[in-house]
Amino acid sequence: MVKKYLSDIHLEDYAAGYENKKATHKDMVFEGGREFLSLNGEWNYAVDQYDTCLRQNWYRERYVDERGFTLPVDYSFDEWPLMKLPCCWNTFASEYLLYEGPMVFTRKFRYDTADNGRCILRIGAASMLCRVFINGSYIGMHRGASTPFYFDITELLKEENRIILCVDSTRRPEQVPTENTDWFNYGGVFRDIGLITLPGVYIRSFRINLVPDGGFNKIHASVSLSECTEGKAKLKIDELKIDEEVDIVNGKGETEIAADLRLWSPEDPYLYDVTLCFNEDTVSDRVGFREIKVQGREILLNGQSIFLKGISAHEDSTENGRALTDKERIENISLAKELGCNFMRVAHYPHHERMAKLADEMGIMLWEEIPVYWAIRFEREETYEDAHNQLAELIERDYNRASVIIWSVGNENADTDSRLSFMKGLADYAHETDPGRLVSAACLVDEAENRIADRLADSLDIIGVNEYCGWYSPDFERLPELMKNSDPDKPVIITEFGADAMRGNTGDPDRKGTEEYQACVYDRQLDTLLKIDYVKGISPWILYDFRCPRRTSVIQKYYNRKGLLDETKTYRKPAFYVLQKYYRNK
Ligand code: GCU
Repeated sequence: MVKKYLSDIHLEDYAAGYENKKATHKDMVFEGGREFLSLNGEWNYAVDQYDTCLRQNWYRERYVDERGFTLPVDYSFDEWPLMKLPCCWNTFASEYLLYEGPMVFTRKFRYDTADNGRCILRIGAASMLCRVFINGSYIGMHRGASTPFYFDITELLKEENRIILCVDSTRRPEQVPTENTDWFNYGGVFRDIGLITLPGVYIRSFRINLVPDGGFNKIHASVSLSECTEGKAKLKIDELKIDEEVDIVNGKGETEIAADLRLWSPEDPYLYDVTLCFNEDTVSDRVGFREIKVQGREILLNGQSIFLKGISAHEDSTENGRALTDKERIENISLAKELGCNFMRVAHYPHHERMAKLADEMGIMLWEEIPVYWAIRFEREETYEDAHNQLAELIERDYNRASVIIWSVGNENADTDSRLSFMKGLADYAHETDPGRLVSAACLVDEAENRIADRLADSLDIIGVNEYCGWYSPDFERLPELMKNSDPDKPVIITEFGADAMRGNTGDPDRKGTEEYQACVYDRQLDTLLKIDYVKGISPWILYDFRCPRRTSVIQKYYNRKGLLDETKTYRKPAFYVLQKYYRNK
Protein backbone atom coordinates (compact mmCIF):
# COMPACT_ATOMS: atom_id res chain seq x y z
CA MET A 1 0.00 0.00 0.00
CA VAL A 2 1.42 3.43 -0.87
CA LYS A 3 2.68 4.94 2.37
CA LYS A 4 0.12 7.56 3.23
CA TYR A 5 1.63 11.04 3.52
CA LEU A 6 -0.64 11.80 6.41
CA SER A 7 0.52 8.75 8.41
CA ASP A 8 -0.41 10.60 11.59
CA ILE A 9 -3.92 9.14 11.57
CA HIS A 10 -2.46 5.82 12.76
CA LEU A 11 -0.12 7.35 15.33
CA GLU A 12 -1.28 7.01 18.92
CA ASP A 13 2.01 7.48 20.78
CA TYR A 14 2.85 10.63 18.83
CA ALA A 15 3.62 12.64 22.03
CA ALA A 16 6.32 10.20 23.13
CA GLY A 17 8.70 11.84 20.69
CA TYR A 18 8.30 15.17 22.50
CA GLU A 19 8.88 14.10 26.10
CA ASN A 20 12.68 14.32 25.91
CA LYS A 21 14.96 17.39 26.04
CA LYS A 22 13.17 18.77 29.12
CA ALA A 23 14.22 22.26 30.19
CA THR A 24 14.97 22.19 33.93
CA HIS A 25 16.41 24.44 36.64
CA LYS A 26 19.89 23.37 35.46
CA ASP A 27 19.28 25.25 32.19
CA MET A 28 18.41 28.54 33.87
CA VAL A 29 20.37 31.74 33.13
CA PHE A 30 20.76 34.66 35.52
CA GLU A 31 18.89 37.56 33.87
CA GLY A 32 19.51 40.62 36.04
CA GLY A 33 20.90 43.54 34.06
CA ARG A 34 21.04 41.64 30.78
CA GLU A 35 20.06 42.78 27.27
CA PHE A 36 16.80 41.11 26.25
CA LEU A 37 15.74 40.86 22.58
CA SER A 38 12.00 40.72 23.20
CA LEU A 39 9.80 38.34 21.24
CA ASN A 40 6.68 39.73 22.91
CA GLY A 41 4.03 41.04 20.54
CA GLU A 42 1.96 39.67 17.67
CA TRP A 43 2.22 35.91 17.11
CA ASN A 44 0.19 33.90 14.61
CA TYR A 45 -1.84 31.21 16.35
CA ALA A 46 -4.23 28.32 15.79
CA VAL A 47 -6.41 26.33 18.18
CA ASP A 48 -5.01 22.81 17.67
CA GLN A 49 -7.48 20.66 19.60
CA TYR A 50 -6.17 17.33 18.26
CA ASP A 51 -2.44 18.14 18.58
CA THR A 52 -2.17 17.88 14.79
CA CYS A 53 0.93 20.07 14.74
CA LEU A 54 2.78 17.33 16.63
CA ARG A 55 1.05 14.42 14.85
CA GLN A 56 1.79 15.79 11.35
CA ASN A 57 5.08 17.55 12.24
CA TRP A 58 3.81 20.89 10.92
CA TYR A 59 6.99 22.49 12.25
CA ARG A 60 8.99 20.76 9.44
CA GLU A 61 7.07 22.91 6.91
CA ARG A 62 7.27 20.19 4.25
CA TYR A 63 5.34 21.51 1.26
CA VAL A 64 6.58 19.22 -1.56
CA ASP A 65 7.50 15.51 -1.54
CA GLU A 66 10.58 13.83 -3.07
CA ARG A 67 8.86 13.79 -6.49
CA GLY A 68 8.27 17.55 -6.33
CA PHE A 69 4.58 16.90 -5.76
CA THR A 70 2.94 19.77 -3.85
CA LEU A 71 1.56 18.36 -0.64
CA PRO A 72 -1.75 19.47 0.85
CA VAL A 73 -1.05 20.96 4.30
CA ASP A 74 -3.43 21.76 7.15
CA TYR A 75 -1.77 24.95 8.39
CA SER A 76 -0.97 28.48 7.17
CA PHE A 77 1.46 29.87 9.72
CA ASP A 78 1.74 33.41 8.33
CA GLU A 79 -1.96 33.72 7.49
CA TRP A 80 -3.24 32.53 10.86
CA PRO A 81 -4.84 35.22 13.05
CA LEU A 82 -2.73 37.18 15.54
CA MET A 83 -2.55 37.16 19.34
CA LYS A 84 -0.41 39.59 21.34
CA LEU A 85 1.81 37.60 23.73
CA PRO A 86 2.25 37.32 26.65
CA CYS A 87 -1.44 36.73 27.39
CA CYS A 88 -3.99 34.10 28.46
CA TRP A 89 -6.11 32.95 25.54
CA ASN A 90 -9.09 32.57 27.93
CA THR A 91 -9.36 36.35 28.33
CA PHE A 92 -8.10 37.15 24.81
CA ALA A 93 -11.34 36.08 23.16
CA SER A 94 -14.67 35.09 24.73
CA GLU A 95 -14.89 31.99 22.53
CA TYR A 96 -11.67 30.73 24.20
CA LEU A 97 -12.73 31.38 27.81
CA LEU A 98 -13.33 27.70 28.56
CA TYR A 99 -10.93 26.26 25.98
CA GLU A 100 -8.42 23.80 27.40
CA GLY A 101 -5.99 21.96 25.15
CA PRO A 102 -3.21 22.61 22.65
CA MET A 103 -2.75 25.93 20.90
CA VAL A 104 0.07 26.64 18.42
CA PHE A 105 1.89 29.99 18.30
CA THR A 106 4.38 31.01 15.67
CA ARG A 107 6.30 34.01 14.43
CA LYS A 108 9.46 34.87 12.54
CA PHE A 109 12.38 36.87 13.86
CA ARG A 110 15.67 38.13 12.49
CA TYR A 111 18.98 37.43 14.25
CA ASP A 112 22.47 38.80 13.66
CA THR A 113 24.39 35.55 13.32
CA ALA A 114 27.64 37.52 13.16
CA ASP A 115 27.45 37.64 16.92
CA ASN A 116 29.70 34.74 17.94
CA GLY A 117 28.28 34.33 21.45
CA ARG A 118 25.45 32.16 22.74
CA CYS A 119 21.75 32.83 22.16
CA ILE A 120 19.34 31.64 24.85
CA LEU A 121 15.58 31.52 24.29
CA ARG A 122 13.76 32.49 27.52
CA ILE A 123 10.03 31.91 28.12
CA GLY A 124 8.67 33.33 31.38
CA ALA A 125 5.82 30.84 31.76
CA ALA A 126 3.55 28.73 29.54
CA SER A 127 0.68 26.60 30.81
CA MET A 128 0.59 23.69 31.35
CA LEU A 129 3.40 22.46 29.15
CA CYS A 130 5.19 23.88 26.14
CA ARG A 131 7.11 22.34 23.24
CA VAL A 132 9.53 24.53 21.30
CA PHE A 133 10.55 24.33 17.64
CA ILE A 134 13.07 26.51 15.81
CA ASN A 135 13.59 26.43 12.01
CA GLY A 136 12.06 22.97 11.65
CA SER A 137 13.78 21.31 14.63
CA TYR A 138 12.34 20.15 17.95
CA ILE A 139 14.27 22.03 20.66
CA GLY A 140 12.66 20.63 23.82
CA MET A 141 9.82 20.95 26.28
CA HIS A 142 8.95 22.34 29.71
CA ARG A 143 6.42 21.15 32.27
CA GLY A 144 4.88 23.53 34.79
CA ALA A 145 2.74 26.60 34.26
CA SER A 146 4.47 29.14 36.46
CA THR A 147 8.27 29.09 36.18
CA PRO A 148 10.65 30.36 33.48
CA PHE A 149 12.52 28.05 31.13
CA TYR A 150 15.52 28.44 28.82
CA PHE A 151 16.95 26.77 25.71
CA ASP A 152 20.33 27.40 24.06
CA ILE A 153 19.35 27.78 20.39
CA THR A 154 22.65 29.20 19.11
CA GLU A 155 23.49 26.45 16.64
CA LEU A 156 20.09 26.62 14.91
CA LEU A 157 19.89 30.34 14.21
CA LYS A 158 19.93 31.92 10.75
CA GLU A 159 19.37 35.51 9.57
CA GLU A 160 15.64 34.78 9.27
CA ASN A 161 14.11 32.34 11.80
CA ARG A 162 10.79 30.73 12.61
CA ILE A 163 9.83 29.79 16.16
CA ILE A 164 6.83 27.60 16.99
CA LEU A 165 5.43 27.02 20.49
CA CYS A 166 2.98 24.17 21.06
CA VAL A 167 1.32 25.11 24.36
CA ASP A 168 -1.00 22.55 25.96
CA SER A 169 -3.15 23.71 28.90
CA THR A 170 -4.79 20.30 29.42
CA ARG A 171 -5.14 19.33 33.10
CA ARG A 172 -3.86 15.81 33.81
CA PRO A 173 -3.90 13.72 37.03
CA GLU A 174 -0.15 12.99 36.85
CA GLN A 175 0.80 16.68 36.50
CA VAL A 176 1.64 19.28 39.21
CA PRO A 177 -1.06 20.44 39.88
CA THR A 178 -3.44 17.62 39.00
CA GLU A 179 -6.66 17.98 37.02
CA ASN A 180 -8.55 19.13 40.15
CA THR A 181 -7.82 22.53 41.72
CA ASP A 182 -9.87 25.36 43.20
CA TRP A 183 -8.72 27.93 40.67
CA PHE A 184 -9.19 28.63 36.95
CA ASN A 185 -6.92 26.79 34.55
CA TYR A 186 -5.74 29.58 32.27
CA GLY A 187 -3.84 28.62 29.12
CA GLY A 188 -1.22 30.43 27.11
CA VAL A 189 2.21 32.01 27.27
CA PHE A 190 1.71 34.16 30.35
CA ARG A 191 5.05 35.93 30.78
CA ASP A 192 7.77 37.58 28.70
CA ILE A 193 9.44 35.78 25.80
CA GLY A 194 12.80 36.79 24.46
CA LEU A 195 16.36 36.07 23.43
CA ILE A 196 19.36 36.67 25.65
CA THR A 197 22.68 37.02 23.82
CA LEU A 198 25.64 35.97 25.93
CA PRO A 199 29.43 35.61 25.57
CA GLY A 200 30.81 32.12 24.99
CA VAL A 201 31.23 31.67 28.78
CA TYR A 202 28.59 33.41 30.87
CA ILE A 203 27.22 33.71 34.40
CA ARG A 204 24.50 31.09 34.79
CA SER A 205 23.72 31.61 38.48
CA PHE A 206 24.43 34.49 40.88
CA ARG A 207 23.18 34.11 44.45
CA ILE A 208 23.74 36.77 47.11
CA ASN A 209 22.31 37.10 50.62
CA LEU A 210 23.05 37.92 54.24
CA VAL A 211 24.93 35.13 56.01
CA PRO A 212 22.42 33.56 58.44
CA ASP A 213 23.55 33.76 62.10
CA GLY A 214 26.42 35.93 60.92
CA GLY A 215 25.85 38.96 63.10
CA PHE A 216 23.96 40.85 60.36
CA ASN A 217 27.20 42.12 58.84
CA LYS A 218 28.35 39.39 56.47
CA ILE A 219 27.32 38.95 52.85
CA HIS A 220 27.62 35.61 51.02
CA ALA A 221 27.78 35.48 47.22
CA SER A 222 28.05 32.41 45.01
CA VAL A 223 28.59 32.23 41.26
CA SER A 224 28.36 29.44 38.73
CA LEU A 225 29.34 29.76 35.08
CA SER A 226 28.10 28.07 31.93
CA GLU A 227 31.45 26.28 31.54
CA CYS A 228 33.84 24.59 33.99
CA THR A 229 36.55 27.20 33.52
CA GLU A 230 38.90 28.98 35.91
CA GLY A 231 39.29 32.71 36.41
CA LYS A 232 38.29 35.62 38.59
CA ALA A 233 34.86 37.23 38.91
CA LYS A 234 34.40 40.68 40.42
CA LEU A 235 31.61 41.58 42.83
CA LYS A 236 30.88 45.30 43.27
CA ILE A 237 28.56 47.10 45.69
CA ASP A 238 29.64 50.72 45.31
CA GLU A 239 27.57 52.04 48.21
CA LEU A 240 29.42 49.66 50.53
CA LYS A 241 32.78 50.27 48.82
CA ILE A 242 32.90 46.57 48.00
CA ASP A 243 35.01 45.64 45.00
CA GLU A 244 35.84 41.99 45.64
CA GLU A 245 37.50 39.35 43.49
CA VAL A 246 35.89 35.90 43.54
CA ASP A 247 38.09 32.95 42.60
CA ILE A 248 36.38 30.74 40.02
CA VAL A 249 37.49 27.11 40.03
CA ASN A 250 35.84 24.50 37.85
CA GLY A 251 33.18 27.06 36.86
CA LYS A 252 32.16 27.88 40.44
CA GLY A 253 33.11 30.36 43.15
CA GLU A 254 31.86 31.96 46.34
CA THR A 255 32.91 34.57 48.83
CA GLU A 256 31.95 36.04 52.18
CA ILE A 257 32.39 39.76 52.79
CA ALA A 258 32.03 41.84 55.94
CA ALA A 259 29.85 44.92 55.49
CA ASP A 260 28.11 47.52 57.61
CA LEU A 261 24.60 46.96 56.25
CA ARG A 262 21.27 48.78 56.40
CA LEU A 263 19.04 45.73 56.76
CA TRP A 264 15.91 45.16 54.68
CA SER A 265 12.51 45.07 56.41
CA PRO A 266 8.92 45.87 55.40
CA GLU A 267 9.23 49.11 57.35
CA ASP A 268 12.58 49.95 55.70
CA PRO A 269 12.82 48.04 52.37
CA TYR A 270 16.36 49.16 51.70
CA LEU A 271 18.00 47.80 48.53
CA TYR A 272 21.59 47.87 47.28
CA ASP A 273 22.75 47.85 43.65
CA VAL A 274 25.10 44.93 43.11
CA THR A 275 27.04 43.97 39.96
CA LEU A 276 29.01 40.86 39.12
CA CYS A 277 31.43 40.58 36.20
CA PHE A 278 33.27 37.64 34.71
CA ASN A 279 35.44 38.51 31.68
CA GLU A 280 33.06 40.20 29.21
CA ASP A 281 29.86 39.12 31.02
CA THR A 282 28.24 41.53 33.51
CA VAL A 283 25.04 41.03 35.50
CA SER A 284 23.36 43.17 38.14
CA ASP A 285 20.57 43.09 40.70
CA ARG A 286 18.89 45.26 43.38
CA VAL A 287 19.14 43.31 46.62
CA GLY A 288 17.97 43.67 50.20
CA PHE A 289 19.87 41.98 53.04
CA ARG A 290 17.88 40.51 55.92
CA GLU A 291 17.86 37.47 58.18
CA ILE A 292 14.75 35.36 58.70
CA LYS A 293 14.79 32.49 61.17
CA VAL A 294 12.77 30.53 63.69
CA GLN A 295 13.67 30.20 67.35
CA GLY A 296 11.36 27.99 69.39
CA ARG A 297 7.89 29.27 68.59
CA GLU A 298 9.15 32.69 67.42
CA ILE A 299 9.74 34.00 63.89
CA LEU A 300 12.68 36.42 63.94
CA LEU A 301 13.32 39.03 61.26
CA ASN A 302 16.79 40.55 61.77
CA GLY A 303 16.74 39.20 65.32
CA GLN A 304 13.38 40.75 66.23
CA SER A 305 10.31 38.61 66.93
CA ILE A 306 7.57 39.41 64.38
CA PHE A 307 3.94 38.58 63.72
CA LEU A 308 3.02 38.00 60.05
CA LYS A 309 -0.07 40.10 59.40
CA GLY A 310 -0.94 38.60 56.07
CA ILE A 311 -3.48 37.97 53.37
CA SER A 312 -3.56 35.29 50.64
CA ALA A 313 -3.83 36.16 46.95
CA HIS A 314 -4.16 34.29 43.67
CA GLU A 315 -2.57 35.63 40.47
CA ASP A 316 -5.95 36.33 38.89
CA SER A 317 -7.51 39.14 36.91
CA THR A 318 -10.99 39.37 35.36
CA GLU A 319 -9.44 41.23 32.43
CA ASN A 320 -6.06 39.44 32.02
CA GLY A 321 -6.47 36.05 33.65
CA ARG A 322 -3.04 34.93 34.93
CA ALA A 323 -1.15 37.54 32.89
CA LEU A 324 -1.42 40.41 35.35
CA THR A 325 0.00 43.82 34.50
CA ASP A 326 2.50 45.52 36.82
CA LYS A 327 -0.27 47.99 37.63
CA GLU A 328 -2.44 45.11 38.88
CA ARG A 329 0.43 43.67 40.93
CA ILE A 330 1.14 47.05 42.52
CA GLU A 331 -2.59 47.43 43.21
CA ASN A 332 -2.66 44.05 44.99
CA ILE A 333 0.32 44.88 47.20
CA SER A 334 -1.12 48.34 47.92
CA LEU A 335 -4.44 46.79 48.97
CA ALA A 336 -2.58 44.40 51.29
CA LYS A 337 -0.73 47.34 52.83
CA GLU A 338 -4.02 49.24 53.16
CA LEU A 339 -5.26 46.28 55.22
CA GLY A 340 -2.22 46.74 57.47
CA CYS A 341 -0.36 43.67 56.13
CA ASN A 342 3.37 43.10 56.32
CA PHE A 343 2.99 39.68 54.62
CA MET A 344 1.26 38.03 51.62
CA ARG A 345 0.78 34.38 50.81
CA VAL A 346 1.00 34.37 47.02
CA ALA A 347 -0.77 31.05 46.37
CA HIS A 348 -0.83 28.30 45.06
CA TYR A 349 1.91 28.46 42.40
CA PRO A 350 4.86 30.79 41.64
CA HIS A 351 3.55 34.21 40.70
CA HIS A 352 5.32 36.44 38.11
CA GLU A 353 8.92 37.28 39.07
CA ARG A 354 7.89 40.95 39.17
CA MET A 355 5.76 40.22 42.26
CA ALA A 356 8.82 39.52 44.47
CA LYS A 357 10.74 42.44 42.96
CA LEU A 358 7.85 44.80 43.72
CA ALA A 359 7.55 43.30 47.22
CA ASP A 360 11.28 44.00 47.74
CA GLU A 361 10.73 47.65 46.80
CA MET A 362 7.34 48.22 48.44
CA GLY A 363 8.22 46.37 51.65
CA ILE A 364 6.08 43.28 52.16
CA MET A 365 7.20 39.74 53.02
CA LEU A 366 6.09 36.83 50.81
CA TRP A 367 5.21 33.15 51.16
CA GLU A 368 5.82 31.61 47.73
CA GLU A 369 4.48 28.16 46.85
CA ILE A 370 4.63 25.38 44.26
CA PRO A 371 1.31 23.80 43.19
CA VAL A 372 1.66 20.48 45.06
CA TYR A 373 -2.01 20.87 45.70
CA TRP A 374 -4.57 18.32 47.02
CA ALA A 375 -4.38 14.79 45.50
CA ILE A 376 -1.02 14.83 43.69
CA ARG A 377 0.14 11.39 42.41
CA PHE A 378 2.64 11.10 45.26
CA GLU A 379 3.66 7.55 44.33
CA ARG A 380 4.80 8.54 40.77
CA GLU A 381 8.54 9.21 40.32
CA GLU A 382 7.98 11.46 37.26
CA THR A 383 5.49 13.53 39.26
CA TYR A 384 8.10 14.01 42.00
CA GLU A 385 10.66 15.08 39.34
CA ASP A 386 8.14 17.62 38.04
CA ALA A 387 7.40 19.06 41.51
CA HIS A 388 11.09 19.08 42.45
CA ASN A 389 12.00 20.89 39.25
CA GLN A 390 9.32 23.54 39.74
CA LEU A 391 10.58 24.14 43.29
CA ALA A 392 14.20 24.32 42.09
CA GLU A 393 13.22 26.76 39.32
CA LEU A 394 11.31 28.95 41.79
CA ILE A 395 14.22 29.03 44.28
CA GLU A 396 16.77 29.81 41.56
CA ARG A 397 14.53 32.54 40.11
CA ASP A 398 13.79 34.36 43.38
CA TYR A 399 16.84 33.50 45.49
CA ASN A 400 18.03 37.13 45.68
CA ARG A 401 14.62 38.50 46.74
CA ALA A 402 14.70 39.69 50.38
CA SER A 403 10.87 39.86 50.45
CA VAL A 404 10.59 36.07 49.96
CA ILE A 405 10.90 34.59 53.46
CA ILE A 406 9.11 31.26 53.06
CA TRP A 407 9.15 28.50 50.43
CA SER A 408 5.99 26.41 50.61
CA VAL A 409 6.11 22.87 49.28
CA GLY A 410 2.36 22.48 48.97
CA ASN A 411 -1.20 22.86 50.12
CA GLU A 412 -3.83 20.67 51.81
CA ASN A 413 -2.43 17.22 51.09
CA ALA A 414 -3.77 14.21 53.01
CA ASP A 415 -1.17 12.88 55.48
CA THR A 416 -0.26 9.55 53.82
CA ASP A 417 3.11 7.76 53.72
CA SER A 418 3.71 8.46 50.01
CA ARG A 419 2.79 12.13 50.48
CA LEU A 420 5.11 12.39 53.50
CA SER A 421 8.06 10.98 51.58
CA PHE A 422 7.32 13.17 48.52
CA MET A 423 6.97 16.44 50.44
CA LYS A 424 9.76 15.70 52.94
CA GLY A 425 12.00 15.32 49.91
CA LEU A 426 10.94 18.74 48.64
CA ALA A 427 11.34 20.39 52.07
CA ASP A 428 14.79 18.86 52.55
CA TYR A 429 15.86 20.07 49.09
CA ALA A 430 14.70 23.62 49.88
CA HIS A 431 16.67 23.57 53.17
CA GLU A 432 19.83 22.27 51.46
CA THR A 433 19.83 24.66 48.52
CA ASP A 434 18.67 27.72 50.48
CA PRO A 435 19.52 27.59 54.21
CA GLY A 436 18.74 31.31 54.58
CA ARG A 437 14.97 30.90 54.21
CA LEU A 438 12.16 29.11 56.00
CA VAL A 439 10.25 26.15 54.62
CA SER A 440 6.58 25.51 55.21
CA ALA A 441 3.39 24.00 53.74
CA ALA A 442 -0.32 24.66 54.24
CA CYS A 443 -1.37 21.56 56.17
CA LEU A 444 -4.75 20.10 57.01
CA VAL A 445 -6.05 19.77 60.54
CA ASP A 446 -6.50 16.25 61.97
CA GLU A 447 -10.31 16.48 61.90
CA ALA A 448 -10.89 13.32 63.96
CA GLU A 449 -8.74 14.54 66.84
CA ASN A 450 -9.40 18.24 66.10
CA ARG A 451 -5.74 19.10 66.47
CA ILE A 452 -2.65 20.07 64.47
CA ALA A 453 -0.93 16.73 63.88
CA ASP A 454 0.58 16.58 60.36
CA ARG A 455 3.67 14.32 60.22
CA LEU A 456 5.21 16.67 57.61
CA ALA A 457 5.59 19.32 60.36
CA ASP A 458 8.87 17.69 61.50
CA SER A 459 10.42 18.73 58.17
CA LEU A 460 9.11 22.30 58.27
CA ASP A 461 10.34 25.45 60.04
CA ILE A 462 6.79 26.83 60.25
CA ILE A 463 3.55 24.84 60.24
CA GLY A 464 0.93 26.32 57.91
CA VAL A 465 -2.62 25.38 58.90
CA ASN A 466 -5.78 25.83 56.81
CA GLU A 467 -8.93 25.79 58.98
CA TYR A 468 -12.43 26.94 58.10
CA CYS A 469 -14.21 26.99 61.45
CA GLY A 470 -17.43 28.87 60.89
CA TRP A 471 -17.58 27.92 57.21
CA TYR A 472 -16.81 24.33 56.17
CA SER A 473 -16.82 23.08 59.73
CA PRO A 474 -20.05 24.44 61.23
CA ASP A 475 -19.63 24.83 64.95
CA PHE A 476 -17.24 27.60 65.70
CA GLU A 477 -16.39 26.10 69.09
CA ARG A 478 -14.03 23.69 67.33
CA LEU A 479 -11.52 26.51 66.82
CA PRO A 480 -10.66 27.28 70.45
CA GLU A 481 -10.63 23.51 71.10
CA LEU A 482 -8.32 22.96 68.10
CA MET A 483 -5.93 25.53 69.52
CA LYS A 484 -6.09 24.02 73.01
CA ASN A 485 -5.64 20.46 71.71
CA SER A 486 -2.49 21.40 69.79
CA ASP A 487 0.98 21.86 71.19
CA PRO A 488 3.36 22.60 68.29
CA ASP A 489 7.08 23.03 69.02
CA LYS A 490 7.43 25.65 66.27
CA PRO A 491 5.52 28.69 64.98
CA VAL A 492 2.15 28.21 63.28
CA ILE A 493 0.71 30.41 60.54
CA ILE A 494 -3.03 30.07 59.97
CA THR A 495 -2.65 30.03 56.19
CA GLU A 496 -6.38 30.01 55.46
CA PHE A 497 -9.66 30.80 57.07
CA GLY A 498 -12.58 32.67 55.48
CA ALA A 499 -16.12 32.59 54.12
CA ASP A 500 -17.83 33.28 50.81
CA ALA A 501 -19.81 36.51 50.44
CA MET A 502 -21.28 37.80 47.21
CA ARG A 503 -21.02 41.57 46.86
CA GLY A 504 -24.42 43.08 47.64
CA ASN A 505 -25.77 39.91 49.28
CA THR A 506 -26.62 41.48 52.64
CA GLY A 507 -29.25 41.50 55.37
CA ASP A 508 -28.89 38.39 57.49
CA PRO A 509 -25.73 37.92 59.61
CA ASP A 510 -26.72 34.31 60.28
CA ARG A 511 -27.08 33.32 56.62
CA LYS A 512 -23.97 31.90 54.90
CA GLY A 513 -23.03 33.88 51.83
CA THR A 514 -23.95 37.31 53.16
CA GLU A 515 -21.42 40.05 53.67
CA GLU A 516 -22.42 40.23 57.33
CA TYR A 517 -21.84 36.49 57.87
CA GLN A 518 -18.33 36.78 56.36
CA ALA A 519 -17.54 39.76 58.61
CA CYS A 520 -18.74 37.78 61.63
CA VAL A 521 -16.51 34.82 60.74
CA TYR A 522 -13.52 37.19 60.51
CA ASP A 523 -14.36 38.77 63.84
CA ARG A 524 -14.69 35.42 65.67
CA GLN A 525 -11.63 33.90 63.96
CA LEU A 526 -9.39 36.88 64.71
CA ASP A 527 -10.65 37.26 68.27
CA THR A 528 -9.60 33.62 68.88
CA LEU A 529 -6.43 33.32 66.80
CA LEU A 530 -4.70 36.49 67.93
CA LYS A 531 -4.74 35.20 71.52
CA ILE A 532 -2.90 31.94 70.72
CA ASP A 533 0.78 32.30 71.66
CA TYR A 534 2.12 29.83 69.04
CA VAL A 535 0.17 31.48 66.17
CA LYS A 536 2.77 33.84 64.70
CA GLY A 537 0.98 34.77 61.52
CA ILE A 538 -2.25 34.59 59.55
CA SER A 539 -3.03 34.91 55.83
CA PRO A 540 -6.85 34.71 55.54
CA TRP A 541 -8.36 33.40 52.33
CA ILE A 542 -8.39 35.70 50.28
CA LEU A 543 -7.70 39.29 49.13
CA TYR A 544 -10.24 39.35 46.28
CA ASP A 545 -12.76 37.07 44.53
CA PHE A 546 -11.21 34.92 41.79
CA ARG A 547 -12.41 32.79 38.85
CA CYS A 548 -13.15 29.20 39.84
CA PRO A 549 -15.00 26.62 37.70
CA ARG A 550 -16.01 24.62 40.81
CA ARG A 551 -18.13 27.42 42.23
CA THR A 552 -21.55 27.50 40.54
CA SER A 553 -23.97 28.52 43.30
CA VAL A 554 -26.22 31.52 42.98
CA ILE A 555 -23.87 33.62 45.14
CA GLN A 556 -20.72 32.41 43.36
CA LYS A 557 -21.43 32.27 39.58
CA TYR A 558 -18.08 30.64 38.72
CA TYR A 559 -16.13 32.76 41.20
CA ASN A 560 -14.75 31.86 44.61
CA ARG A 561 -16.28 34.66 46.68
CA LYS A 562 -14.07 34.50 49.79
CA GLY A 563 -12.41 37.74 48.74
CA LEU A 564 -12.31 40.75 51.04
CA LEU A 565 -12.92 42.66 47.83
CA ASP A 566 -15.02 41.67 44.84
CA GLU A 567 -13.31 40.47 41.64
CA THR A 568 -13.15 44.01 40.21
CA LYS A 569 -11.30 45.15 43.38
CA THR A 570 -13.52 48.24 43.45
CA TYR A 571 -15.69 47.10 46.37
CA ARG A 572 -14.46 46.37 49.90
CA LYS A 573 -16.74 43.99 51.80
CA PRO A 574 -17.28 44.69 55.55
CA ALA A 575 -14.82 41.87 56.43
CA PHE A 576 -12.05 44.00 54.85
CA TYR A 577 -12.53 46.57 57.61
CA VAL A 578 -12.77 43.91 60.33
CA LEU A 579 -9.34 42.53 59.40
CA GLN A 580 -7.93 46.03 58.99
CA LYS A 581 -9.09 46.95 62.50
CA TYR A 582 -7.43 43.88 64.05
CA TYR A 583 -4.17 44.48 62.17
CA ARG A 584 -4.07 48.12 63.16
CA ASN A 585 -4.55 47.18 66.80
CA LYS A 586 -2.01 44.30 66.63
C1 GCU B 1 -8.84 25.45 50.42
C2 GCU B 1 -7.80 25.68 49.34
C3 GCU B 1 -8.06 26.91 48.54
C4 GCU B 1 -9.54 27.04 48.27
C5 GCU B 1 -10.21 27.30 49.60
C6 GCU B 1 -11.72 27.40 49.46
O1 GCU B 1 -8.28 25.64 51.64
O2 GCU B 1 -6.48 25.73 49.84
O3 GCU B 1 -7.32 26.80 47.31
O4 GCU B 1 -9.80 28.09 47.35
O5 GCU B 1 -9.97 26.22 50.49
O6 GCU B 1 -12.35 26.37 49.64
O7 GCU B 1 -12.20 28.49 49.14
